[in-house]
Amino acid sequence: MDGTRIPRPECAELNDPRPLVRPRLTLVVPTRNERESVPLLLRALEPAFGELPVEILFVDDSDDDTPATAARHAPDCRLPVRMIHREGGAREGGLAGAVLAGARQARGEWALVMDADLQHPPEAAAVLARTALGHDVDIVVGTRYAGSGSTGDGLDGPVRRFVSRGSTLLTKAAFPHRLAGVSDPMSGLFAFRTAAIDMNRLSPLGFKVLLELLVRHPGARVAEVAYRFAPRAAGTSKASLREGLRFLRHLARLRRPAPAAHRADGGSHSSTGRRDLGATARFLAFGLVGLSGIAVNTAALWFFHSVVGLQHLLGATLATQVSSLWNFALLETLVYRGGRGGDKRAVLVRGIAFLALNNLLLLGRLPLLQWLVDSGIGLLTANVLSLVALFVARFLFSDLLIYRG
Ligand code: GDD
Ligand code: MN
Repeated sequence: MDGTRIPRPECAELNDPRPLVRPRLTLVVPTRNERESVPLLLRALEPAFGELPVEILFVDDSDDDTPATAARHAPDCRLPVRMIHREGGAREGGLAGAVLAGARQARGEWALVMDADLQHPPEAAAVLARTALGHDVDIVVGTRYAGSGSTGDGLDGPVRRFVSRGSTLLTKAAFPHRLAGVSDPMSGLFAFRTAAIDMNRLSPLGFKVLLELLVRHPGARVAEVAYRFAPRAAGTSKASLREGLRFLRHLARLRRPAPAAHRADGGSHSSTGRRDLGATARFLAFGLVGLSGIAVNTAALWFFHSVVGLQHLLGATLATQVSSLWNFALLETLVYRGGRGGDKRAVLVRGIAFLALNNLLLLGRLPLLQWLVDSGIGLLTANVLSLVALFVARFLFSDLLIYRG
């Protein structure tokens, strides 16, 4: 692309495999510090893919010796292995950027994206590859949430399972039409026909590249293949709280029209620029008030439950009264200051309405809180999770109403 000062990373051949029949499918494997996983993966791919015309393309953003390790083990693999290594400023877009960089270099007509840590079993990836090559579709999604698919032992702990399930439901609620019939839009295992995808319409962010593909290509023909998410083979996950926040930003951004062309600087022109700024400011204000409310609510719950000794749902109900009053005071003084009628009666009416709404929402939150507690999550953690879920749902739905209305 023009105008970018970012150096284009080199694509190196790591082995000299059997006379290369033109690969029809490129396995795009993003790696960041996967020195333990890469040899295991290389060993597992060849038997799984057998005679399928595939090549392997690592897109590496590592600081460790993953590239050298891959180069050392590639000659033992009969599949062609290549690697793009990105350094520093060229590591644009994180995992999603790496996936697109790989798709741009794919020699196959299909790009199949899979993780390096064997959480996506090579046999499952091979089934996906056969589906892609044998059917008239544009995107094949590996799903953990339909048919025989499952999160298996891949998502350790109830918190991660809750986050995964919750964010999937949230995402489907945000794009009810485009994601109809897609059970796992957050999957990291998927394949797409490169000719069916307009990469210039994508400005990926973070981990959720499949989601962006689906949302930006509503006409694409999609098939699903079930798989069981496996535990990590070695090394550590790169998912983080920061990644989670990035995901929310990504969601909010995806709900706006696609950029005419991807701009490396994030775009800054005309009306869309102003609109984004408004949304960002709104999200920030909403976020800060919401965040402080979550802290106040959880502190109050701790007080009512652990200090006073009240039953936890009763404690949660009282805590909601405290945090609602807190949030109301903040909104009145900071956000709506001067903008609304200032007489005491009007403030009182608004306050009662605000409290009533929050108690209505509490009716939905209490069962969720109980369910989380039942699945073994500590009360205060469960409280925060249920509040975050409510908070995000509120933001997305008010945003949805504003933009669709
Ligand atoms: N090139 C590159 N750059 N690769 C990255 C980066 C990056 O910034 N961050 C992570 N990766 C690679 C990892 O090395 C690994 O091969 C793969 O991307 C997935 O990263 P993990 O750290 O193992 O992520 P995860 O297991 O928590 O998340 C997986 O499951 C999610 C669904 O639960 C991924 O498949 C996600 O895409 C998926 O949404
Ligand atoms: Mn993983």
